[in-house]
Amino acid sequence: MPCGPDYPPLSGTIGDVTDVDPSSSPLTRDRWATWIAERRHGGDAEFLRRTIESLAPVRDRVIANARLSPGSRVLDVGCGDGFIAFAALDAVGPSGQVVFADVSTDLLERCRALAGEAGVLDRCRFLEASASDLSSVESATVDAVVLRSVLIYEPEKGRAFTEFHRVLRPGGRLSLFEPVNRFGHPEPEDKLHGYDVAAVADLASKVKAVYESHQPPQSCTMVDFDERDLLGLAEDAGFDDVHLCFEVDVEEYRSSPWRTSWEALLHSAFNPLAPTLAEAMAEALSTEESARLCDYLHPLVVEGRGQVRRAAAYLWAAR
Ligand SMILES: C[S@@+](CC[C@H](N)C(=O)[O-])C[C@H]1O[C@@H](n2cnc3c(N)ncnc32)[C@H](O)[C@@H]1O
Repeated sequence: MPCGPDYPPLSGTIGDVTDVDPSSSPLTRDRWATWIAERRHGGDAEFLRRTIESLAPVRDRVIANARLSPGSRVLDVGCGDGFIAFAALDAVGPSGQVVFADVSTDLLERCRALAGEAGVLDRCRFLEASASDLSSVESATVDAVVLRSVLIYEPEKGRAFTEFHRVLRPGGRLSLFEPVNRFGHPEPEDKLHGYDVAAVADLASKVKAVYESHQPPQSCTMVDFDERDLLGLAEDAGFDDVHLCFEVDVEEYRSSPWRTSWEALLHSAFNPLAPTLAEAMAEALSTEESARLCDYLHPLVVEGRGQVRRAAAYLWAAR
């Protein structure tokens, strides 16, 4: 499995799989926007629907932990296509404001278009910025910083927390959710994406080597921290009143919302930086080898005979 899965993001406010901004051509979309629009679900609309359904409570907890009030100014760092930001906009009401920040120009444009369609542009600001450099946000001007599945991509996590602390007003709140991928990584040799591949270990190890070449584990930002690091980073940045909830799920695919169809497993990427299984097989295996691996994996995937191992942390804190 790649260096780590993301919890695929959402489109709560934004229509369905086919609802792609025509102004953002697949040829020009950056990798973040491409993943959100296509590669996270591999064309499996049902998988996307279940994913969004299971992410709604995550979004709601992030918002609840931020304790937003009417009129608040919220900064959503790594806003994607606005899953958290548009919910925050609802929570702060007509006198509140949300700053949408992301490293992806394409996603910011997507959010701007959606805000325009919803008639809320006057309450939105758009900012191209990384979590570790929010220098265009003045110090102590924000009531809440929210984020979901963003620090997994940020190499300078300590600087990011320092920035969150700096932009918050005294008493302002930080609320975040991050997958803790170190929990399930690396997978044992006899497992691939949670399926038992002991009988085809030669093929699985070649596929894993491709994943590792795209995201070398020693420099992968998705596995360089755990929940205790998040807590320490928040405290080191000066946050008081810090809370963390660590959640682990170990379950059979057949009863998990993360169960995928065969097509989705082949054609979806576990995170925006990873190849799909089909791409990794094309890179690592001959046609004959690919067929052998597919013949072996297919029934396991269709019957959900594999195990998901996921962990994630909610952290919320006050400045
Ligand atoms: C998995 S998506 C999450 C999007 C959104 N937060 C959500 O809940 O749906 C990760 C987002 O983080 C953005 N991102 C990646 N690296 C970043 C960084 N260093 N700083 C800020 N945003 C980043 C990506 O462009 C992408 O929009």
